[in-house]
Amino acid sequence: MEFSIKVGRPEQLQAGCIVVGVFEPRKLSVAGAALDRASKGYLARILKRGDMEGKAGSTLLLHDVPGIKAERVLLLGLGKPESFRDRQYSEAIGAAVRALNATGAADSVLHLPESSAVKRDIGWCVAQATIAARGATYRFDRMKSRPEKPSSVLRKLAFGIGDKKAQRAATAGLEQGLAIAHGVSLARDLGNLPGNVCTPTYLANAARELAKHYRLKIQVIERAEMEKLGMGALLSVARGSVQPPKLIIVEYRGGPAGQKPVALVGKGVTFDTGGISIKPSPEMDEMKFDMCGAASVLGTLKAVAEMKLRINVVGVIPATENMPGGNATKPGDIVTTMSGQTVEILNTDAEGRLILCDALTYAERYKPQAVIDIATLTGACVIALGHVVSGLFANDDALAHEVLAAGEASGDRAWHLPLHEEYQEQLNSNFADFANIGGRPGGAITAACYLARFTKKMKWAHLDIAGTAWLSGKAKGSTGRPVPLLAQFLIKRAAKS
Ligand code: BES
Ligand code: MN
Ligand code: ZN
Repeated sequence: MEFSIKVGRPEQLQAGCIVVGVFEPRKLSVAGAALDRASKGYLARILKRGDMEGKAGSTLLLHDVPGIKAERVLLLGLGKPESFRDRQYSEAIGAAVRALNATGAADSVLHLPESSAVKRDIGWCVAQATIAARGATYRFDRMKSRPEKPSSVLRKLAFGIGDKKAQRAATAGLEQGLAIAHGVSLARDLGNLPGNVCTPTYLANAARELAKHYRLKIQVIERAEMEKLGMGALLSVARGSVQPPKLIIVEYRGGPAGQKPVALVGKGVTFDTGGISIKPSPEMDEMKFDMCGAASVLGTLKAVAEMKLRINVVGVIPATENMPGGNATKPGDIVTTMSGQTVEILNTDAEGRLILCDALTYAERYKPQAVIDIATLTGACVIALGHVVSGLFANDDALAHEVLAAGEASGDRAWHLPLHEEYQEQLNSNFADFANIGGRPGGAITAACYLARFTKKMKWAHLDIAGTAWLSGKAKGSTGRPVPLLAQFLIKRAAKS
């Protein structure tokens, strides 16, 4: 689909369809009121008849509205104005695109619900609308023998703005939104691919492709070199698998040469069986999504490169399968991590922290201004926070607040959880420096505590995306989160430096 900005009065726009908002109860948005005046009260009469209340997500399609150039008018319910906030805004755009897909209109103009209503500027509105519209049209059908025919004829979507002065900000918002949407799509595609296709080798190749396209620096560290580096924890997870592990490092240099990069470290377990501590069968297929942290790093790098942000970013992705096997790590095995600390692996299903700890130690050599790891790390995080927000941990309060703010601004929210010293005791081991599990209480916290032992020299934040990276059930599929949060974080950091 092609996106653009159109400046002009809504009644004058030539298009297959023009979309305007209706607030509950029966109140036309500014653009809607303009259409109403041009049609001599046609829309107001329809609302008065009670055909549309304006409930969020409802739509009403009208043809040949008098006095208006567009062939159709789609009235889009926005709900009550006082509860019309960021999320309602994005959901309204999604509803509009789904409704447009059911019409015969090939080109449409969305007259954005006024930014004053949502209390955001025009750039934010256009960016969010772009991401929401792309999200609503996303399909993953490359594993079907016959891709489903596109049911919609919609090819062009324009965002209409009334004020020429806003055009610059709107265009910038569109570019930013498109870049982020492309990053989200990449993350979703990688996440949705099955484990037999998306192996560590596949991820490395996907990273190489990305690097080639945007001229990024890439390095893939193989098993032999991991051994030399002393990555005993990462290697212990890969032992049971026939697929070779990869440590993928992608560097984007858009900032000054001497500037320390932001490091993004993404968990890339391309399939998590649990290993010898094997998982129960129901829903085990969803463990193909256990590389969504890695996918979000690649997606964010794509967005950052497309936006040409003036910042340096390094992505570090430990990629492996977690499989049982004759050579697999056994409960009770003790390994030496790259940091030199020894770990007693009491549960081979707590593998994410094992691969991340060595990747975090590796990231130290970049002397990052901040490091953020992203991981589908614990079922406990899903129990704590559900599927709405990602879990956030940090060893630096300013960094935590920066990440939280990026979550709020992008609508891809996180929630700050504690990392107090007292929890560390749960990782005590009789045989090694510490264990890789801390029991059931506070499972998301003790996992973060484990990672904290490897990040003392850096400003570090950890996002547990176990509940947000994918949806289950009928809508099963990767969400592309937290690419919007990470992209927003980097946009702000780039503006500051
Ligand atoms: N990838 C899982 C976490 C997970 C589980 C994410 C379910 C989403 C849904 C992770 O590797 C894992 O297995 N964690 C264990 C840790 C436990 C053994 C301490 C868990 O959460 O059960
Ligand atoms: Mn696991
Ligand atoms: Zn896992």
